Amino acid sequence: MKNKYLYIETFGCQMNVHDSEQMAVLLKDIGYKTTEDSDKADLILINTCSIREKAEQKAFSELGRLIMLKEENPNLIIGFAGCLAQHLGAKVHSRVKEVDLVFGTHNIHRLPEMITAVQKQRKKITRIDFSSKIHSLNVFAPPPKGSLCAFVSIMQGCDNYCSYCVVPYLRGPEMSRTPEDIMDEIQKLTKHGVKEVTLLGQNVNSYGKKMDHGCNFVSLIKKIEKIDGIERIRFTTSHPKDLSDDLIDCFASVPKLCEHIHLPVQSGSDRILKRMNRGYSSEEYLRKIDRLRDACPQISITSDIIVGFPGETQKDYQETIDMMEKIRFDSVFSFKYSERKGTAAQKLQDQVSEAEKRRRLKELQALQDRHTQEKNSALEASVQEVLVEGRSRNSEQDMMGRARSWRIVNFKGRPDLIGKQVFVEITRGYLHSLRGKMINR
Ligand code: 5AD
Ligand code: SF4
Repeated sequence: MKNKYLYIETFGCQMNVHDSEQMAVLLKDIGYKTTEDSDKADLILINTCSIREKAEQKAFSELGRLIMLKEENPNLIIGFAGCLAQHLGAKVHSRVKEVDLVFGTHNIHRLPEMITAVQKQRKKITRIDFSSKIHSLNVFAPPPKGSLCAFVSIMQGCDNYCSYCVVPYLRGPEMSRTPEDIMDEIQKLTKHGVKEVTLLGQNVNSYGKKMDHGCNFVSLIKKIEKIDGIERIRFTTSHPKDLSDDLIDCFASVPKLCEHIHLPVQSGSDRILKRMNRGYSSEEYLRKIDRLRDACPQISITSDIIVGFPGETQKDYQETIDMMEKIRFDSVFSFKYSERKGTAAQKLQDQVSEAEKRRRLKELQALQDRHTQEKNSALEASVQEVLVEGRSRNSEQDMMGRARSWRIVNFKGRPDLIGKQVFVEITRGYLHSLRGKMINR
């Protein structure tokens, strides 16, 4: 039988990357091999993101490019998946007639059946219903050969309804996987050589809350810590309102847990935090930061910030800047507010102009770059434990890995170090990485 080829283009967050891996595994069972070359494909899937308008534009412009391949190959099947597919449903078919299949975030497990139906009947299919069970997260996707680090989804969906965010509408209510399924997946990953896992969820702090298995996030981390072969544990994302003292203590008491937390603050203004429906005040957030630093002084703290949320005055924005000065994050992902259909914030008045959003973002990013640079420079002469991942992109003779704080570290070394934990004395801190020399300990 002739090989059939699958080309997947993925936009957006780690959840989507994970979903695409599941799709590839499911399609392998019906004879599809993945390819990096879209020209060779018999089936193209575009896994989309909808978090900001820009992400939607990117997905459609890529779709526009890929449908041209149908002119050469009329049998080519094109599928549109992910958050934007969930949001638009059948409208995608009317907008782009070359699309054969539109399916949402809860329908991944039905992919083989949907593809077979498209092949046999040559009809358009739309599947965007929500399911009450976690299906696809239990499909095991073997990591690419030689991978040391893997992402493991521990839950899906979100119940928080931050007023600007579409995720709860597009990924459905929060559901946690059982600890048994998660442990089983991690055990399997270790057999493939994985040493570091990042536990994924929209709000990992509320893991297990709606389940009756009695395992919360802290107990889950403690179970994973016992798995032989796992050397490092990370997680993302944490919601500040659900960050417990017990979890904070883990940074001091669980040696395998890396000293890094991504804790999106979104704004430093109480008025805006309220309008965003975040469920904490700036003071509560600051108190959690103090507790984290008390428990683990070297912890690296990163965050997400939105500028130009409806009604954000210069004073509100200044409060965000003041908070950044107070906390001095290690790194920040910052965004201009983007209006999303169906969210509560869409109904709010007092839009901030595009020019003002741009100005605030630029200024905020310059401040954060200064903080990041200062933090990285302060690490000069320190010794970092690095898990060596591969060759560095910078130079043939260099190897790269990550410090426990998530920073990229480049150093002179040999490829036989890949997969090992080494100690590197930092000689230079740059904005996006550290450089150092390996030392024997
Ligand atoms: N506009 C801008 N940024 C957003 N985010 C989520 N929704 C929006 C939006 N409508 C940002 C938040 C979140 C990150 C993943 O994306 O900062 O933490
Ligand atoms: Fe969106 Fe808030 Fe849920 Fe994060 S916690 S996914 S920002 S609704």
